[in-house]
Amino acid sequence: MGMEVSPTDATLGATVRGIDLSKLDDATFGSIEDAWHEYAVLIFPEQRLDDDAHLAFSRRFGPLEQSIRRSRSTGISNLSNVQADGSVAPPSSLQARFLVGNTYWHSDSSYKKVGAKASILAAHIVPSEGGETEWADMRAAYDILDDERKAWLKDKIAVHDYAFSHAPFGGLEILNKDELSHLDPVEHPIIRTHPATGRKNLFVGRHASHILGEDLEESRMLLAELTDQGAQPPRIYKHQWQAGDIVIWDNRCVLHRGHRWPDDQPRTMVRTTVAGEAGNNEWALATSASGLEIVQGEL
Ligand code: OGA
Ligand code: MN
Repeated sequence: MGMEVSPTDATLGATVRGIDLSKLDDATFGSIEDAWHEYAVLIFPEQRLDDDAHLAFSRRFGPLEQSIRRSRSTGISNLSNVQADGSVAPPSSLQARFLVGNTYWHSDSSYKKVGAKASILAAHIVPSEGGETEWADMRAAYDILDDERKAWLKDKIAVHDYAFSHAPFGGLEILNKDELSHLDPVEHPIIRTHPATGRKNLFVGRHASHILGEDLEESRMLLAELTDQGAQPPRIYKHQWQAGDIVIWDNRCVLHRGHRWPDDQPRTMVRTTVAGEAGNNEWALATSASGLEIVQGEL
């Protein structure tokens, strides 16, 4: 059976069936990359990749990114509310609180000087309800802006700041001093052009604190408005996970957010991040010659 790509009803997202991601030839990978550029989010049901296969698939898109826990970073990590002893982390715990931050629209690592290219998320343990992930098409969000707003935003720069977006969710407590010292505020243009497709998009989300040179509160409100307006039907797609699913999305042109699930149920997702393409990306991980090193971080 060949690869079958079924677009969603939204302006982004497609489900891909008929292939095994652990056994990809170059031609099939090329077709996946083409579809990814077109749909920005690809959902691969029933793949059940182990961590080695997840890493190998991820590396086809480029070098992986170090996590914010630099000293402990290996390229793959758990996003889970399950604690080391197997119990579910209580809502008041740092581990559970940190995950709540993901329920606000964001682009992964946009608080880094070079944001992430792709995120690749696999469902290992899913709750009986809730816990969906949702994506918003910020290419289409740019397209619907009126000409006056497009012109005003043309050269505007947003300041993206880890401390701004993460402080309410324990983000300053989970990192040590050295790790925090790598997370000073950074600047990104609000309108960006996708390197592969040439399409323009809005680059905003929860890490964007304000617009450089503009009133702090007013520009913060405008950024929130741009995110909210963009993230409306038909530009959003929400996925209800089944264990074994894996999804890749393009952080350069889509936002995403998670949805809550019952606090007493376990949910474990496994994540890799492909580093943004820039000559001087200090967050790109060198591929270790010895192959795969895997640590299961709790966050
Ligand atoms: C992520 C993320 C949301 C979720 O993996 O980057 O934001 O639904 N996940 O787990
Ligand atoms: Mn995320």
